[in-house]
Amino acid sequence: MQTTELVHFKELGKQITVLTAWDAISSSLVEAAGADVVLVGDSLGMVVLGHATTLPVTLDQMLHHTQAVCRGFCKPLSEQPLVVCDLPFLSYQCGEDKAVEAAGTLLKNSSAAAVKLEGAEPETLLVIKRLIRMGIPVMGHLGLTPQSVHQLGYKSQARDKDSQEKILRDSKILQESGCFSIVLEHIPGEIASQLKNHLDIPVIGIGAGNDCDGQVRVTADILGLSITQPPFSKPLLSGRELCIDALKKWIESTNPDQVNPTTKTSESKSDC
Ligand code: KIV
Repeated sequence: MQTTELVHFKELGKQITVLTAWDAISSSLVEAAGADVVLVGDSLGMVVLGHATTLPVTLDQMLHHTQAVCRGFCKPLSEQPLVVCDLPFLSYQCGEDKAVEAAGTLLKNSSAAAVKLEGAEPETLLVIKRLIRMGIPVMGHLGLTPQSVHQLGYKSQARDKDSQEKILRDSKILQESGCFSIVLEHIPGEIASQLKNHLDIPVIGIGAGNDCDGQVRVTADILGLSITQPPFSKPLLSGRELCIDALKKWIESTNPDQVNPTTKTSESKSDC
């Protein structure tokens, strides 16, 4: 899957599905489920590494997890989902050279084919244009941008007229700057819908209503594995309960004496 195919999906009116992955198990699952794009999101900082925000995630960690994700695919390379990797906090905010080096490192050492970065400030636009000139496709990200949590919080964005106009303007600028698609997170559905109709590039929503060119979700949220679920991402499975039940069953099976003391043997323990 290539970035250009996503624009084709939009032209055909085919919904684009994007799921996050963070290791070989999660990538093999989302590949088998048929996701078009696998995002190695810096949400892994919270989902997998236990941080309170995405800010502590390093470039080394993103590379480590992206490589694991790419190793987890079972299909031949040409049939694998497109892998997009988040540029972590401080890997692109300090200027174009540092950003090219960070993005280049991810693409050079894995089969990721694009990067995602947040915002559309003038400095960010310079970075985006430079990356694209250097042959690195860029996915934009507006609305709730978790790397700005200390400014915006984890709450819905573009609630008032001014910020709605800003997001409409910024999205068009991201398209003009060469982004191949844009993630819109936690904004009113009407704004995402307007952008879907006005932009040539695909608009991928999360908490941005149903009228988008595609949807992205954090896989752990869909599977019900996350301890804290965002309001816009309902689990489709009680993953935590199912996992805990299975693990409890295994633990009980290793201690059959606790269930029925007369059946305990050392063999029955090692059989498990
Ligand atoms: O890091 C991430 O998983 C993301 C998605 C929520 C879009 O950026």
